[in-house]
Amino acid sequence: MDGNGRWAKKRLMPRSYGHKSGMNRMIGLAEHAKALGIKYLTVYALSTENLSRRPQEELDGLFGLFRKYFTANVKKLYKSNSAVRVIGDLSALPADVAELLRGGEQNSPDGAEFTLIFAINYGSRNEIINAVNAALDGGKRIDEESFSSLLYTAGLPDPDLIIRTGGEKRLSNFLTYQAAYAELYFADALFPDFSDGQFDMALNDYAARDRRFGKI
Ligand code: IPE
Ligand code: MG
Repeated sequence: MDGNGRWAKKRLMPRSYGHKSGMNRMIGLAEHAKALGIKYLTVYALSTENLSRRPQEELDGLFGLFRKYFTANVKKLYKSNSAVRVIGDLSALPADVAELLRGGEQNSPDGAEFTLIFAINYGSRNEIINAVNAALDGGKRIDEESFSSLLYTAGLPDPDLIIRTGGEKRLSNFLTYQAAYAELYFADALFPDFSDGQFDMALNDYAARDRRFGKI
């Protein structure tokens, strides 16, 4: 979900205004994705690098948005038989925000038809290193299956399609292990401008691709 800050700057508004607009757009896209029958949507809300490198004021603004809007939106999701899952290192977040996120996960309905996954203080390198350490602590050699079960994404399918908005063409530490065979799509639109229609365009592009997974 890249481009919130630039979107606000273009409007001579503070970055926090862009994050608020981005959050609204994210909720809209989640509803849209669910209506289309998509089962899992992962949103990269905050990277490990964002948390360590952004000004505290901006981070406080982001946490403020969570405090204010997370519970109400999650309750709406539950009502439509959707679950919430969080991936990332919650231990470095403000304790009350971490608790909100964990609560959102724990109170999710079983057998939900749609899961919205928040990647927060998420970084693939951190995830992989934690998994390796857990494997070492377990004292057993790992294979692909057991390794996957040690990642934050344990039990979740690998992504089929990764969409990055905002014009940059990189993964920025997002699901790099899980993305081994993901299709990538880059949109120039800044995230608050990334409409349901543009999401559909990304899906149409994906649908026209030939996924061979190494076969001919
Ligand atoms: C992405 O938008 C959202 C978060 C990382 C929270 P940015 O904040 O990266 O916006 P730009 O890239 O500065 O426009
Ligand atoms: Mg950015």
